[in-house]
Amino acid sequence: MAINIRQLHPHFVAEVDGVDLSRPLGAETIKTLNDAINRYSVLVFHGQSLDDDQLLALGRTFGSVAPPRNHRAGHRLQHAEIADISNLNVKNEVRARDDSRRLDSLGNQLWHSDASFRPISGALSMLHAHVVPPSGGDTLFADLRAAYDELDDETKELIEGLITEHSIFNSRGQLGHTDYTDAERAALPSVRHPLVRVHSGSKRKTLYMGSHASHIIGWPQPEGRLLLRDLMEHATQQRFVHAHKWQVGDLVLWDNRCTLHRGTRYNDAKYRRDLRRVTTQDMDSVQDNPELVAAS
Ligand SMILES: [Fe+2]
Repeated sequence: MAINIRQLHPHFVAEVDGVDLSRPLGAETIKTLNDAINRYSVLVFHGQSLDDDQLLALGRTFGSVAPPRNHRAGHRLQHAEIADISNLNVKNEVRARDDSRRLDSLGNQLWHSDASFRPISGALSMLHAHVVPPSGGDTLFADLRAAYDELDDETKELIEGLITEHSIFNSRGQLGHTDYTDAERAALPSVRHPLVRVHSGSKRKTLYMGSHASHIIGWPQPEGRLLLRDLMEHATQQRFVHAHKWQVGDLVLWDNRCTLHRGTRYNDAKYRRDLRRVTTQDMDSVQDNPELVAAS
């Protein structure tokens, strides 16, 4: 079957037809998809049907898959490596309004890059829709390479070489959710990543930030926070953003190294939403936090 690739947004995002992701992919298909990832950052596949074993196998086709954070509420799915992007508890019931896991997951509605709070940050995420609500619950994507390109030269010069601190507790704290134990905090210490990176697959420069990023190392806190807010405001302008409206069977693959994303609100007390994700590790980021990587 021929692979068809159709660009969906003036800067990035493409729809891909002619690939069955539930089956092992041949070398030629993997190369075609890797080239498309490097060009478009976000690939949308419709009509896919992958069980959890197949989703994990797909993730491992593209790199080393790191398990998501542990939650004290337990894990609903069989594989620790699959992130449960749902509003369901371990009994497969809609989570209660005050469920700590629900409150934690509301942070996914802030712009972020998956696992940027990890010493080895996220590279590619693959998110597969099993159940979707009738309205809302979209995923928005922002193109950080295009956003970098459109910065003025003075700003590009200012931010070159800056290092940003990231923590999961920064994004959650922005929403006032601070209910984490000392052990949970100790398990996820703050990490550092460059604010400007060269995207290895395209050699293009990109911003790297999001709601986990709190401030700039070596700068007064308010000044660093303001710079990050300004850059976020710039990068999430409508012209850099694409909205994906989910259908059952969709699988969206995106590159966390050069995009941001966020979920949109939906009626999670009434409707079920069951999406499952795998994320590969960005091995280029190993050098960002050598002590933490060595200790892990
Ligand atoms: Fe995410």
